[in-house]
Amino acid sequence: MILSGKELAADIRAGTAGMAADLTAGGRQPTLAVVVAMADEASAWYVRQIASASGKAGISCQVRDLSEDSPGAPGAPGPSEIEGVLAGLSADPGVHGIIVQTPLPGGAKLADLAGVIDPRKDVDGANPVSLGRLMTGLPAFAPATAAAVLWLLDHHKVVLEGRRAVVVGRSAVVGKPVAQLLLDRNATVTTCHSRTPDLFMVTREADVLVAAAGRAGLIRAEHVAAGATVVDVGTNATADGGLVGDVAPEVAEVAGAVSPVRGGVGPVTTAVLLRHVVEAAAVL
Ligand SMILES: NC(=O)c1ccc[n+]([C@@H]2O[C@H](COP(=O)([O-])OP(=O)(O)OC[C@H]3O[C@@H](n4cnc5c(N)ncnc54)[C@H](OP(=O)(O)O)[C@@H]3O)[C@@H](O)[C@H]2O)c1
Repeated sequence: MILSGKELAADIRAGTAGMAADLTAGGRQPTLAVVVAMADEASAWYVRQIASASGKAGISCQVRDLSEDSPGAPGAPGPSEIEGVLAGLSADPGVHGIIVQTPLPGGAKLADLAGVIDPRKDVDGANPVSLGRLMTGLPAFAPATAAAVLWLLDHHKVVLEGRRAVVVGRSAVVGKPVAQLLLDRNATVTTCHSRTPDLFMVTREADVLVAAAGRAGLIRAEHVAAGATVVDVGTNATADGGLVGDVAPEVAEVAGAVSPVRGGVGPVTTAVLLRHVVEAAAVL
């Protein structure tokens, strides 16, 4: 079985567009601000995707390009300049969602900068306060990718309660929040990382395996129990300009279900991000 995200993403987008139309009719068009601090091809592609999807959903998308390559910019912005822009957007009543694109210049850390984003507008869960709130069961936006994994599992009616879930990856943007969201759903969760010895011994215990390591083909057939559900979050560029996940194609022969790379978590992530924007606009 293929855990496609395409139909789900379309459903979420349709719901979001309806909510956005209602809010706009009430005089509050949902607005997302995207802060770009450094020129980067992959980031630019993602920003174009978000801007296009926002337009289709009736969400205003304002891109603030601070990179030294942007027209008229004198040089790479420092952390205090980026923080100043984020603080301004946080205080702006016309902005309901804020995201900051990576990479960032000069070793600036996303978690540091995102600390100035108003948590109510932190639609991609980048402020450490959002992750802390998530961990303690308080309302917060989870990072869109992490939330997308749960949307995808729910859409395909994968049972989580009482089941063994293994997450490969422990970043603040994917691995940790996914593990927390699975825990919240009463799965028994193990998180693996680059220092986990004998990874396959742990992963093949999983009923639900989430691969978020950013290593092409890391998860092979020997890592997966027969019939397990496998969600592939990885996006790895290939030399010929393609994109592959963390899960090797051979896994499809053992697993009960696998999400594809292209058409799996990716489209759901963008849809969930915009959903968060209208949810933020509804309460701000
Ligand atoms: N589909 C989407 O919408 C979407 C969105 C965001 C990210 N992604 C993709 O998801 C992947 C993960 O993103 P990220 O931001 O979380 O990456 P990241 O910050 O580089 O984190 C990768 C994690 O994987 C672990 N890891 C690396 N190699 C491993 C190995 N051989 N065995 C076990 N664990 C290993 C690392 O362990 P250590 O902590 O020990 O270093 C780290 O915790 C990337 O491919 C990224 O492009 C996709």
